[in-house]
Amino acid sequence: MIQPFNPKVTQLGYVALGSADIERTAAHYREVVGLAETERSKDAIYLSVCGSHHDVVISKANEKVFLHQGYRLQPGIDLKDFAKSLSDYGLSAQIKSDSQPGLSQIVEATATGGVVFQFYKEMAGGESARISKGVAPIRLGHLALISPEAVKLGTFYTDFLGFHYTDDIAGIVNFFTCNREHHVVNLITVPQSRVHHIAFELRGNSEHVLACDQLSRSEVPTLWGPSRHGPGHNIASYHHDPDKVLIEFYTEMDVYLPAQGLHEPRPCHDVYPMLPKSWPGERLSNWKTQFALNLGEL
Ligand SMILES: [Fe+2]
Repeated sequence: MIQPFNPKVTQLGYVALGSADIERTAAHYREVVGLAETERSKDAIYLSVCGSHHDVVISKANEKVFLHQGYRLQPGIDLKDFAKSLSDYGLSAQIKSDSQPGLSQIVEATATGGVVFQFYKEMAGGESARISKGVAPIRLGHLALISPEAVKLGTFYTDFLGFHYTDDIAGIVNFFTCNREHHVVNLITVPQSRVHHIAFELRGNSEHVLACDQLSRSEVPTLWGPSRHGPGHNIASYHHDPDKVLIEFYTEMDVYLPAQGLHEPRPCHDVYPMLPKSWPGERLSNWKTQFALNLGEL
């Protein structure tokens, strides 16, 4: 039976990472990835793909750390009501005013495994001009998290936030979405707690070549890809930011049709209809290509 699709959030709005050297890390996102710096304080730098005040926040920390993820709430959800529903679910939730530039109010809650969520209704605008340097992706798409509590965390995404499960790899990597993209988050069950990667969408497949050239000019190696994944069928490549956080560039992600509980048919599919399923590990690369980085080695 297809689960009703009525998620409480519409998209991943931003990701906050802690770094021991915020200038070096922010420079990578600004000069190499091609985001615009929209604001800074003495301990945080805010970066935007375009349109929003921030998609990535780099904050001062003793070492690299995943700080929090921000989600835009569906229109019509009241922040106070939402905070109460989080409390009723068993999480402590706090409404914060002016906790960061660009957001007048957020609800913050800590879920299983110490994973911090922030929820907001509207974000102020940021850099709207086309970025002309770096790779210049078109949007922040998804986040991959490693947690020993990934299964319980996934229950929060599905049962409380209303995400749909869309695929998994060997039961270890689980994909979930709150919109039409194949995944907005993937949760990896491993006895560590950290971010695995953050992913930006590129304009088209030819941009992968330009992205690899840009990385090469900046002396940043492409560690995996470009290749086409099995689950999601996105063409993806990965490199490290200066803190060794993986960044994915992707295109051609599967389009999820929530009313039918399947992925829109694509020529690259080998099964029709493409229903959510468990994929074997070797389908991490649909092209069976081998790379120096074993992306499945966590
Ligand atoms: Fe990804």
